[in-house]
Amino acid sequence: MMMMHAAVGLWVLSAVICVGRADHHGDHHMGHGHDKSSQDTGADGGANSVALVNEANQEFSFRLYRKLAAHADSQGQNIFFSPVSVSTALALLSVGAQGETHRQLFSGLGFNSSLLTQTDVDQAFQTLLQGANNASQEDADEGTAVFVDNRFKPKPEFLQTLKQSYFTEGFNVDFTKTTESADTINKYVGEKTKGKIDKLVESLDPNTVMCLISYIYYKGKWATQFDPQLTEQDDFHVDENTKVRTAMMNMEERFHSYYDHELKTTVLQLPFNSSYSMLLMLPDVMETLENAICPNHVTKWLKAMTRPRLENLDFYF
Ligand SMILES: *[C@@H]1O[C@H](CO)[C@@H](O)[C@H](O)[C@H]1NC(C)=O
Ligand SMILES: *[C@@H]1O[C@H](CO)[C@@H](O)[C@H](O)[C@H]1NC(C)=O
Ligand SMILES: *[C@@H]1O[C@H](CO)[C@@H](O)[C@H](O)[C@H]1NC(C)=O
Repeated sequence: MMMMHAAVGLWVLSAVICVGRADHHGDHHMGHGHDKSSQDTGADGGANSVALVNEANQEFSFRLYRKLAAHADSQGQNIFFSPVSVSTALALLSVGAQGETHRQLFSGLGFNSSLLTQTDVDQAFQTLLQGANNASQEDADEGTAVFVDNRFKPKPEFLQTLKQSYFTEGFNVDFTKTTESADTINKYVGEKTKGKIDKLVESLDPNTVMCLISYIYYKGKWATQFDPQLTEQDDFHVDENTKVRTAMMNMEERFHSYYDHELKTTVLQLPFNSSYSMLLMLPDVMETLENAICPNHVTKWLKAMTRPRLENLDFYF
């Protein structure tokens, strides 16, 4: 969920992936020896893997967005998701997967298995998440947790990798007590999201052996705050044919903006009082933006907007 106020931009999201008991010995081994092959990466190892994983994560964001936007359930709906939380959660899951499951997770995430091993990915996430934690101010909180059934014993390396590389918190629960274990998970997520999400799970399957949780909370102050007095009801045009009446914040101020001729999109950068900022894209034609946007565009915009004034047209709103 997301809220924009005169004073703050607030968003919170969380997600859960639960794994149940299966009759067959499938591809879930919850920890295995990918470690061996990682030595191949040799001297360039670390930095190169970080770049590859980072690049794959960025590409994944837009691929996932296109999938979500094209989905039947999304038509006429707002789409709100945290791509890095999804990549992190699926990378976590791939730590415990093997065979076809592992191959599918890797290719879904865009990790090229001839260039990256699971251990490379783990180490890259460790670096990336550490960097994110270092940079994040008190207004942001994101992370993962794993809830494991008391009678299920994952391989110690699995939990060790989760803890060390993904900073995942681990807990034991009794999933046969479905209400109690759901309460435990909801209480945890409630605390992490400052009470904004207190019902992540409702009914859990008593055969569950493990749940991976991911959450993100962000509440940033605008660098230039809106005056609440200027908030008025106005028309928001959802598309050519649909408009809704809603409370609109107003401000007259100079902001960085950029017109991307290739995507036919105006971009406005709205900074928070931190290193973060919000990018707002106003396409001439939605499909042109949606079908072509890629990480290079965002890099180009940010570069252009941090250049001295002259090159940007200033924008009032
Ligand atoms: C993976 O990397 C190899 C070696 O660079 C390359 O030949 C191959 O095309 C890549 N695969 C994909 C799916 O990008
Ligand atoms: C994050 O901070 C830790 C401890 O202060 C430091 O060791 C690490 O190098 C930093 N990582 C990054 C990516 O800045
Ligand atoms: C923005 O951050 C600066 C430095 O951290 C602080 O002095 C200032 O009060 C902040 N402004 C707002 C509106 O919170």
